[in-house]
Amino acid sequence: MSFLEWGDEYMTGIESVDNEHKGAVEIINRLYELSGTNERSHIAELLNVLYHETKAHFDNEERLMKEYKIFNYFSHKAQHDRLLRILKEFISEYGNNNKELSEQFLVLLHDWMINHYKFHDGKMGRELVEKGAK
Ligand SMILES: [Fe+2]
Ligand SMILES: [Fe+2]
Repeated sequence: MSFLEWGDEYMTGIESVDNEHKGAVEIINRLYELSGTNERSHIAELLNVLYHETKAHFDNEERLMKEYKIFNYFSHKAQHDRLLRILKEFISEYGNNNKELSEQFLVLLHDWMINHYKFHDGKMGRELVEKGAK
């Protein structure tokens, strides 16, 4: 069983969004496998990939939300911005050897994803589908 298990309950109905979510789940699971090892450069590289893919994914959702005038755009975007700040700060501290990739940090990412996918992205997806987005 993976650390972060993908489930149909996370599907939003928007193909690009779902594929990007699955990609993030894979990266988090790889990070979990590497945590507790001394593969710091490998972990740093994966954290960077996670940051850039997450940023591109949020840009995609925000573009869709604007295009289809989705309700709660600003509070949804505020959640995205908050996670990007957390990731950026962690990556910088990790790069300065001030941090370990702890289980606590991975659990924070895990819980953020589960909650955000289910509630915020789920709601956004339903509204997008209603408005004809794919
Ligand atoms: Fe998302
Ligand atoms: Fe989102």
